Amino acid sequence: MKIAVIGSGYVGLPTACGLASFGNDVVCIDNNEEKLKILNSGTMPLYEEGLQELYEEVKDKLKFSGQTSDINDADLIILAVGTPMADDGSANLQYIFQAAKDITPHLKNDAIVATKSTVPIGTNDEIERIINRSDIHVVSMPEFLREGYALHDFFNPDRIIIGTDNENVYNRIRDIYISHIPAERIIQTNRHSAELIKYASNAFLATKIQFINEISDLCEQIDADVSDVSIGMGMDSRIGRKFLNAGIGYGGSCFPKDTNALEYMARQHGVKLGLVSSTIRGNHDRRFNIASRINDQIKNLDASAKVAVLGLAFKNGTDDIRYSPAIDIISNINYKPIYAYDPKAMQNAKKVLSSNVTYTKSIQECVKGADIIVILTEWPEFKELENAEFEKPTLILDYRNLLDSGKMTIKKNVTYKRIGQK
Ligand code: UGA
Repeated sequence: MKIAVIGSGYVGLPTACGLASFGNDVVCIDNNEEKLKILNSGTMPLYEEGLQELYEEVKDKLKFSGQTSDINDADLIILAVGTPMADDGSANLQYIFQAAKDITPHLKNDAIVATKSTVPIGTNDEIERIINRSDIHVVSMPEFLREGYALHDFFNPDRIIIGTDNENVYNRIRDIYISHIPAERIIQTNRHSAELIKYASNAFLATKIQFINEISDLCEQIDADVSDVSIGMGMDSRIGRKFLNAGIGYGGSCFPKDTNALEYMARQHGVKLGLVSSTIRGNHDRRFNIASRINDQIKNLDASAKVAVLGLAFKNGTDDIRYSPAIDIISNINYKPIYAYDPKAMQNAKKVLSSNVTYTKSIQECVKGADIIVILTEWPEFKELENAEFEKPTLILDYRNLLDSGKMTIKKNVTYKRIGQK
């Protein structure tokens, strides 16, 4: 198939490379000239594990362009542009509507336009109105890739949702995936259901995280351990162990935006989503609550103490700091300077954090001689603290429950605190 992907971000690029690796001819369109320059020089402009390597393998089948007219012979056009959060919590649809307008004159007869961007219910109806051509088929195809694991998720999806009432269009898209993905994972729904599946899935996972974070607060009061509670709960196959890791609250470009957009959308339809609203509020408060816990500890230190923070990205495996709890937490720590290290996200963090932060080149440099070490992102490399020696009394606040509690609590000079433990 000839496929065009509009947007070369965290969804567009892995999707384009993945589809090229299935043997399709793919053109990826982006109007950001700086990004295009990087792409055309053969470099992926964002960090995603394995992406650069996959690009090297498929580059004969993948082109980048700034011209929408380059989609002219595409059978399938995938919209993968951003739908960021507007000030009122709704999804800002200006980019997706603009993309729909831009592609319209270049669409060949019988082409399929599939929306992978997360869009509110009814957006694809509007895209259809914008395109306003009876020969074009607009499909909702929500994306479930996780940042950091995007290629893994592309090649091993739990499901491919194809939102269309048109059987022939469904089969044409199904054919792209059928030799690579088990048939039972590919399902057809109507467009509105497909749009809602995405929001409901993200909101459910966000609620699961907020739920375990609330249970974690209770654990701290009653001498229970949230890590054990998660394991015990997760052994029930109806509940499942995933997304039950207590921590500093969810961040990133998806859960915060999508829970807000879902709440907004439901309100417009006269429906109150109490659970989702409570999750949004609780998750927002959590990062500030964590910052004040850190401030409570810092109060006891003298002015020459060293405060070290490990982790800036909203989760491990990515350089993305959008709505990262770590960024808000650092911004609310009343101390200067704060030493910080993150294996991938420091360049991005430098653009938004104040000069109170001193970035280090390594974990060792960051934690050396620190009085307090705070872990805010669960990068596996931070586990090297389990083997480190501490020359002076050090408080380690492990807000991702990353380190082995057994090893840390017996370590000389270390006071080790985890989340969800008294
Ligand atoms: C999320 C969904 O998991 C994807 O399926 C979806 O495609 C994507 O949003 C999207 O809408 O595009 P992502 O934002 O990459 O993916 O990140 P997640 O791995 O879901 O993590 C989200 C946040 O929850 C992170 O801040 C993470 O640290 C936090 N989290 C996750 C926890 O605090 N505890 C957990 O147990 C799991």
